[in-house]
Amino acid sequence: MPEARSKTEKVVELCKRRGIIFPAAEIYGGIAGFFEYGPVGVRIKRKLIEDWRKFFVESEENIYEIEGCLILPDKVFEASGHLEHFVDPLTQCKSCKAMFRADNLIEESTGKFVEGLPPEELTKILREERISCPKCGGELSDVKMFNLLLKTEVGPAGGEKASLRPETAQNIFLNFKRIYQSMRAKLPFGVAQVGKSFRNEISPRQFLVRLREFTQCEIEMFVDPRKVNECEGFERVKDVSIRLYTAEAQRKGEREMEIKVGEAVEKGLIPNKWMGYFMAKEFLWFLSLGIPREALRFRQMLPEETPHYSKGNFDLEIEFEFGFKECVGNAYRSDYDLRRHSQFSGEELAVVTPEGEKIIPHVIEPSFGVERPFLAILYHCFVEDKERGWNWLALPPKISPFIAGVFPLVSKDGLPEKAKEVYKMLKESGFDVVYDEKGSIGKRYARIDEIGVPLAITIDYQTLQDDTVTVRDRDTTKQVRVKILELKDIFQRVVDKNSTKDIF
Ligand code: GAP
Repeated sequence: MPEARSKTEKVVELCKRRGIIFPAAEIYGGIAGFFEYGPVGVRIKRKLIEDWRKFFVESEENIYEIEGCLILPDKVFEASGHLEHFVDPLTQCKSCKAMFRADNLIEESTGKFVEGLPPEELTKILREERISCPKCGGELSDVKMFNLLLKTEVGPAGGEKASLRPETAQNIFLNFKRIYQSMRAKLPFGVAQVGKSFRNEISPRQFLVRLREFTQCEIEMFVDPRKVNECEGFERVKDVSIRLYTAEAQRKGEREMEIKVGEAVEKGLIPNKWMGYFMAKEFLWFLSLGIPREALRFRQMLPEETPHYSKGNFDLEIEFEFGFKECVGNAYRSDYDLRRHSQFSGEELAVVTPEGEKIIPHVIEPSFGVERPFLAILYHCFVEDKERGWNWLALPPKISPFIAGVFPLVSKDGLPEKAKEVYKMLKESGFDVVYDEKGSIGKRYARIDEIGVPLAITIDYQTLQDDTVTVRDRDTTKQVRVKILELKDIFQRVVDKNSTKDIF
């Protein structure tokens, strides 16, 4: 296999080779924008989502989780505005028929930022800049808008028009009244959902960055519009320093600023305390997942990029080799969705406040994708290590696929039997461990380093005499000798602290 060139290409190669991510339907040539998780990747993804749930949902008293359907009738998307507004500009090569997102093509060829411009203006720029098909040099068609909803029909006669949901948020708005009543909820309260979303992207690209099927973890926080600054948790996070890239700084060609969330809300740079609360938590969460702070920033969306439902957006962006990419969208959705669903369905979606007033709550929405953060974590945790002789993943223990590998030094003389005993004991105690006796011990260290396993336990001849084993640290390759009986305690400390530092 030829040596992969860029760091991203090395990460992609690792993903395929080590059971992390595979292209979907690969044996039939694949299908653009669809990827599947392998046995190692699925463990990392599951832990990532579980950690999100713990940090953003379960730590709160008033956020409920639901699981909705992936297919919804088109009436929903008429009301939500997706049928009309959820569009991207499309241009097609007249010779080879390849299709492109016109704004991306212009940005790549000229460096001009053109997102949000109408199709006529994009066509004009294509012509003025003499941009042709990047694949064959052919002439490009006029730009037209293309709707990203993935459409289907439901029922044997194909009677009901429906679409795959483009965001998990819509089920939350549709179920708002039921959740409000069944949970006897009081404002402010949130509803969370984890699940698949689908978008018929014109040109899927950059591996997991632009997909047609992806996972989202979303929270819709319902608040009294007059109380968007009454957020109990805000005091706890107001001193968290974040990197903020305001619309003004973008217009002036300036850089991001380091600012405490409390100060940013006070100065009106962030629209309200609820938004500030989630942004601070997001920043802390990504730091805990191994993303360096210089690679993180909140970019305020420019008016022309802001989605149709939003009164203000801050994207949490993470830096990749190909630039900063949005990984979480924070939107102030106001009462847009509940109001529209109320109008279109005829259902009352207002709530009664303790003062007896009827109001439609406003919504603050932190919307996480899973695949982009997943790729960002792999990218930033990927260590190119010439000295060690192999590249490895410095994954934080809380999302590593296994906490430890368990290895007999050699596969003879009773060592495999003893190693299996240790492996079984750890597994039965609830730890994710993996057993391996194939190949040299160096190769086995390399195999688990590559997929980010933080610890390796080796059972050797001394183990048979005194019930001690060696524990190796992935990050430093240091080893300590401990009693088998101490292992559970060591593992628990690593899990609790999300680090191996105080063991080695
Ligand atoms: N409910 C709001 C919403 O869906 P969004 O900014 O369109 O907002 C939120 O999406 C997140 O979902 C993004 O920050 C990104 O992580 C993920 N996402 C959106 N489109 C994606 C795509 N085509 N491929 C992969 N992830 C995507």
